[in-house]
Amino acid sequence: MTMAKIKLPPNTTLYPVPVVLITCGTGEQTNLFTLNRIASCNAEPPMISISVRPSRASHDLIDQLGEFVVNIPWPDMEVITDFVGTTTCRETDKWQETGLTTQPAAIVVPPLLDACPVNLECRVRHTLRLPSHSLFVAEVVALHALPDVLNGRNEVDFQQARGGLVYQAAVVRERPADNFQPDTLRQKVHELRGFQ
Ligand SMILES: Cc1cc2nc3c(=O)[nH]c(=O)nc-3n(C[C@H](O)[C@H](O)[C@H](O)COP(=O)(O)O)c2cc1C
Repeated sequence: MTMAKIKLPPNTTLYPVPVVLITCGTGEQTNLFTLNRIASCNAEPPMISISVRPSRASHDLIDQLGEFVVNIPWPDMEVITDFVGTTTCRETDKWQETGLTTQPAAIVVPPLLDACPVNLECRVRHTLRLPSHSLFVAEVVALHALPDVLNGRNEVDFQQARGGLVYQAAVVRERPADNFQPDTLRQKVHELRGFQ
């Protein structure tokens, strides 16, 4: 006999979902934030999609510039991803608080995060206004990876890397794993600042 399933309110409920750090904007306005509504959506050319709420400061930076970088973090960067995913550049200098450093990208304007082993430079090709989010469909125009995360075929393969799979959220969410405690997160981030 099969166990009866429980009917739940509809949700996107995909698993696993990656958690990435997006860099966007230009010059003084360069920003970073956390995102897990991301998917691979085309092969030739390689394209991905990200969904961003219009209320995020980063939304307009991506919309105006038409470029962003996807930075894939190591698992031990979870506290940092929670912190920059719960603070806005309108109130917090996330660069100063985290001590994260960048280097220029090869093609796009937003920079690459040094602490992340993989960076995808992306250029927006289509924008779809969905009810709660803007879906940015973007071409991956350059890809950078540390040798540690490459397999024998020069493919990015996190099974090769220290720490195994990169940090994954078990549920699609837009908030930290633990209850949001900004001061605790800030303190933890400061303790980790030397991690790079
Ligand atoms: C784990 C996690 C996943 C998130 N995923 C998304 C997402 O997919 N789309 C989005 O718009 N915001 C997402 N957020 C929320 C933004 O990162 C957050 O609102 C951030 O403060 C925006 O910063 P900004 O105002 O400086 O752009 C996520 C946050 C966390 C912690």
